[in-house]
Amino acid sequence: MAYVMPLVPDADLEWALDYIDDCFWKPSRQGAEHAYTVREWRKHDDEGFVRFVTLIRTYGHPENFYRKTYIYLHIDGRKYWTMGSPMHETIIINRAPSNAFYGKQVAPLVNRTYTETVYDRLAVRYDDKYSEQNYLAENARLFNTLTPHIKGSVLDIGCGTGLFLEYIPHHPAMYLGIDPSQGMMNEFIRKFPSHAFRQQTFDEFDGYGEFDIAISLFGSCSYIDPSNYEKLKFSGKNYYFMFYKHGYLPDYYVSPDETMTSYKDLENVFDQLHIFGNYLVATNLPIDEASYENL
Ligand SMILES: C[S@@+](CC[C@H](N)C(=O)[O-])C[C@H]1O[C@@H](n2cnc3c(N)ncnc32)[C@H](O)[C@@H]1O
Repeated sequence: MAYVMPLVPDADLEWALDYIDDCFWKPSRQGAEHAYTVREWRKHDDEGFVRFVTLIRTYGHPENFYRKTYIYLHIDGRKYWTMGSPMHETIIINRAPSNAFYGKQVAPLVNRTYTETVYDRLAVRYDDKYSEQNYLAENARLFNTLTPHIKGSVLDIGCGTGLFLEYIPHHPAMYLGIDPSQGMMNEFIRKFPSHAFRQQTFDEFDGYGEFDIAISLFGSCSYIDPSNYEKLKFSGKNYYFMFYKHGYLPDYYVSPDETMTSYKDLENVFDQLHIFGNYLVATNLPIDEASYENL
């Protein structure tokens, strides 16, 4: 069976090879070829452990371990993986030969062309970053207004690490998430291995019009080319899209020009626009006025 070559940047790869050499790998009971290293053993170099786990989860690919799905990074004939907890709870890195597979593989093992985005490196920290009380309160406010309208099939555009599914455990057969970021994809699959995910931008997406509702939460649709706004509007029978409000961009974003939402472009396409915190919501749903401000 083929395995996926890593897309790790050269400097990181060079560093990773040294790190791997430096660690103590204890053979596991599964056989000498399968080994592991423990975070505690290198207390002096916790930063190194975090960096290597970040590389695994950002640049690795999903493979099945029997009925579970983990993210595996192949380097130099071996693959490395962790058991899928948040970073602060991750304590072990495993390794095995690249050609060792565990159970039937249903996760796709293909080489992809791929462009690194700002979200790749952020992905492993994304959920932690947005776990502060003010963000959780904003999520609760959003899902209070959105949940009653979620019926039938859902297209989640720029689904990231799967925020929607955390709040609404929608049936896997009725959900498709799309997102171009490899790092976000890995976090999503790690958390929701039964839900369908396609690694692509909305601009590349060709299945529009088939969904009962299309959503794009917390700014994802701001990355879509305005020439595709009409296509966006008709991507679902109902829609709920959250663009960044003009002048607002998340702190990690480095090139603001690309994502400055123009109200004019939006007004030309969408009938109803409302303000929700730092976001501009375009929707055809009957909204609860109390949760929004007028434009
Ligand atoms: C701010 S995050 C929001 C993620 C998720 N919706 C949430 O609320 O947690 C923006 C997401 O949009 C994705 N994205 C960037 N360009 C995109 C595009 N052209 N089409 C679809 N998604 C895109 C990014 O990879 C990232 O995961």
